[in-house]
Amino acid sequence: MKLLSLSLLLVFSLSLVEGQTKKQAVNSKRNTFVTKLMSKMTLEEKVGQLNLPSVGFDVTGPIVSQGVEEKIKKGLVGGVFNTFTPIAVRKLQEMAVNETRLKIPLLFGYDVIHGHRTIFPIALGLSASWDLSLIERTARAAAEEASADGLNWTFSPMVDIARDPRWGRVSEGAGEDPYLGSLIAKAMVKGYQGDNFDKNNTIMACVKHFALYGAGEAGRDYNTVDMSRLRMYNEYFPPYKAALEAGVKSVMTSFNEIEGVPASGNKWLMEEVLRKQWGFAGLIVTDYTAINEMINHGVGDERKVAELTLNAGVDMDMVGELLLKHGAELVKSKIVKQAQIDAACRRILEAKFDLGLFDDPYRFVSEERNAQEMMNQQKLNLSKEAAIKSMVLLKNAGQILPLNANQKIAFIGPLVKNQRDLLGSWSGAGDWKKAVSLWSALENKFGSDKLLFAKGCNLVDDEELMKKLNPHGAELVADERSPEKMIDEAVKVANRSSVIVAVLGEPFGMSGEAASRSMIGLLDNQAELLRALKATGKPIILVLMNGRPLTLEWEDKNLDAILETWFSGTNAGPAIADVLFGNANPSGKITMSFPRNVGQIPIYYNSKNTGRPLDVNQKYTSKYLDVPNDPLYPFGFGLSYTNFTYSGISLDQKEIKPGQKIEASITLSNTGKYDGEEVVQFYIQDVVGSITRPVKELKGFKKVFLKAGESKAITFTISNDDLKFYNANLKYASEPGEFKVFIGGNSRDVKTSNFKLNP
Ligand code: BGC
Repeated sequence: MKLLSLSLLLVFSLSLVEGQTKKQAVNSKRNTFVTKLMSKMTLEEKVGQLNLPSVGFDVTGPIVSQGVEEKIKKGLVGGVFNTFTPIAVRKLQEMAVNETRLKIPLLFGYDVIHGHRTIFPIALGLSASWDLSLIERTARAAAEEASADGLNWTFSPMVDIARDPRWGRVSEGAGEDPYLGSLIAKAMVKGYQGDNFDKNNTIMACVKHFALYGAGEAGRDYNTVDMSRLRMYNEYFPPYKAALEAGVKSVMTSFNEIEGVPASGNKWLMEEVLRKQWGFAGLIVTDYTAINEMINHGVGDERKVAELTLNAGVDMDMVGELLLKHGAELVKSKIVKQAQIDAACRRILEAKFDLGLFDDPYRFVSEERNAQEMMNQQKLNLSKEAAIKSMVLLKNAGQILPLNANQKIAFIGPLVKNQRDLLGSWSGAGDWKKAVSLWSALENKFGSDKLLFAKGCNLVDDEELMKKLNPHGAELVADERSPEKMIDEAVKVANRSSVIVAVLGEPFGMSGEAASRSMIGLLDNQAELLRALKATGKPIILVLMNGRPLTLEWEDKNLDAILETWFSGTNAGPAIADVLFGNANPSGKITMSFPRNVGQIPIYYNSKNTGRPLDVNQKYTSKYLDVPNDPLYPFGFGLSYTNFTYSGISLDQKEIKPGQKIEASITLSNTGKYDGEEVVQFYIQDVVGSITRPVKELKGFKKVFLKAGESKAITFTISNDDLKFYNANLKYASEPGEFKVFIGGNSRDVKTSNFKLNP
C-alpha cells in the first residue's frame, strides 16, 4: 500500500515536472520568437499593436472607429472587435498578413457573454443555478461557436460584485457574493480557454471590469466609486483574482475611478495589485474609449491621459486611438519610457503567439466548423437545460404550481408570445427570431385550441422610455388598442379560465449597459393589468422575464406564485413550459437580494453588524421606520415543488488549531412529493476580529438531488483557509477566537452551531 502511494506520488511529481518543463519550453520559444519579431519593429509599428478599433455594428459608446482597413494595411492595428463570420474575419486577416510589412496577424474580439449564436440565460440567471459544471459547459459551447465564427477573444467573464439592482449591468454578473462569484469566474475562464490553446475551439477570455465597476454610486452606470481598501480586498477583488488563478489571459479595465484616479490610468491598481501582488503577466485592454473618458473625469488632456495609461501599465486601447496618436511622441519626448511600449507590445504579441496565430492566422476561420458548430442540437439541449436550472421559484402558495394541464389556463401578458426579448442584452450574435417563445412551446405541447391568450398591455407604454430604448433595437410598438381595451379583453379571457399565468417583466434593453433605473418595480401599465386580473378573484401565477432583482412587495402579497425566469435564452419557451407543468422541478436560488423597495439599496446578506443592531422594540437601533431591514427575498433563496428539511448541525469537534479541520454535517430530507435538487449553503461568521467581520459569509455549497422521501447526510469541511481575511494591514490571515457556522437553504433560514479556533 505504502509502495503504491509512493509510486503514485512519484508519477504525479514527474508529470508535474514534465508539465512545468513543457511550459518553460513553450515560454522560451515564445520569448525568442517575440523578441526577434520586435527587433524588426519600428516604434510606430509597436504602438500600432496597442490599437483595438471596432469594425462592425455594435457600438457601446459615442465614438465609432474610422478608416480601420487603411490602418490595418499600415500596421497600425493590433486587433479588431465586433467583426465575425469566417468571410469577414478572413478578409481583415488577409489584409494584416498579406499587406503589412511584418505580417502580424490580428486578434478578433467580441462580447460573447452568455452564448454566441446559441444563447444561454443571462449571467445573473446562470449564476442562480449554482451549477459550476453547467456554467463551464455554457462557456465551452460559446467558445466552440465563437471560434468557428472567426473569433479568438471574448470580453467575458464579467465578475463585478453588485449590490445595487438599480445598476442595469447586474444582469451580466454573478450577483453579490465574492465566494460564489469567484467560483463562477473560474468556471467560465476554464470553459472559454480550456486547458491551453492546443485546439482551435478555445478562445482567450478577458476578465472585466477591473476594478469595482459594480460599485458605482446610486447604481448609475459609469458613476464614481469610492471604497476602502479593506472592502476592495475582502469583498470586491476576489472574483478578479480567481479568474487570474484560473489562468485568464487578459483583463479589461473599468470605466470608474478608484481613489480619485480612473481605473485605466490607475498605476496602483494595474502595476501594484494586478501585476505585482497577483503576478498577472497577460494583456490589459481598456474598456471602450476609457482612456479618452479620463479627460471628462478631469485628470488631463488627450496627451496626458495617454501618458497616464501607458505609465499605469495598460497595454491596449479599445476604440479611443489615443495611444496610437500620442504613444510614439510621448516616448520621443521621454515622458513615457520606450520599455513601457515594448512591454505592452510584447504582451499583445505573446497573446497572439499563445493563440497559435503566428503558426496559422486562419486557425479560427473554417466554413466547415462554422457549419457544424452553430446552434447544433447538443447546444440547443444545453440552452434548455441551462434555462431550466437558472429559474427561481420565489413564491408558490398552496402548491399551485406545477400546473395541471386539464384546467382552463389563461396566458396573459405582452411576453407570452414575445421572442424579441428572450435573449436578453449582450447577445449580439444571437438571432432572436430563432428564440422559442413560451406560446409556441405551449402550442407544441398542447395544441393551440386548448389555450387562452390575451396580450393585456404593451410591454412598455411610456413614450419617453420607448424613445430611449427603440434606437437600440428594442422594437417596442404600441398596440393599436387603447390600454383600457386591452385590459378589458384580458379580464374577459381571465374570467373564462380557472387560473391565470401572467407573463410580465422588462424589455431586454432595460438591463445591461447604460440601463440603470431609479425604480425597479414592474412598469405602471403592467402593474395596472395585474391589479385588474387580481380583481377577477382567480389565482394568479406571475412569470417574470427581467434582468435584475425587482421590487415585488405587492406581487408577493397578492399573487399566488412567482417564477423568476430572467432572460433565459434561445430555448426560454420550452424551458418555462416544462417548469410550469412540472416536467422539471425548479432549483435555482437568487444570487442577489431582492429588496422590498429601492430605499433599502444597497442591500446584501454579507453586511456588517452595527453597534445598535435591529431591535424593533427599541427606538435607537439601526432600522427604518417604514420598512423592515431585511430584503423581500434573501440571497440564496429559491423554492422547489418539493420540501426540504434540515436537521441541526453536528460538528465533529468544537475546537481546532490552524492546520486542523472540522467537519460540519446536517441531514437533508426531501419531505415533499417530488424528486428535486436543493442547494445546501454553508456560511461562517467570525464573531470577533481585529477588524469587524460580516454577519455571514458563504464558504461552501452543495447541490444535492434527492428523490421524494429520501434523506442524505451532507458534510462541509472547514479549514483554516475558510477563516482567513485581509486585516487592517491587508495581510491575509485567520485570527483565533469564536466562529459561528450556518447551514441552510438560503442565507436567512439556517441552522446554527459554533466552534473555536485556538492559537
Ligand atoms: C463595455 C464592455 C464591453 C465593451 C466592448 C463597453 O461599453 O463596458 O463590457 O466589453 O464595451 O463592447
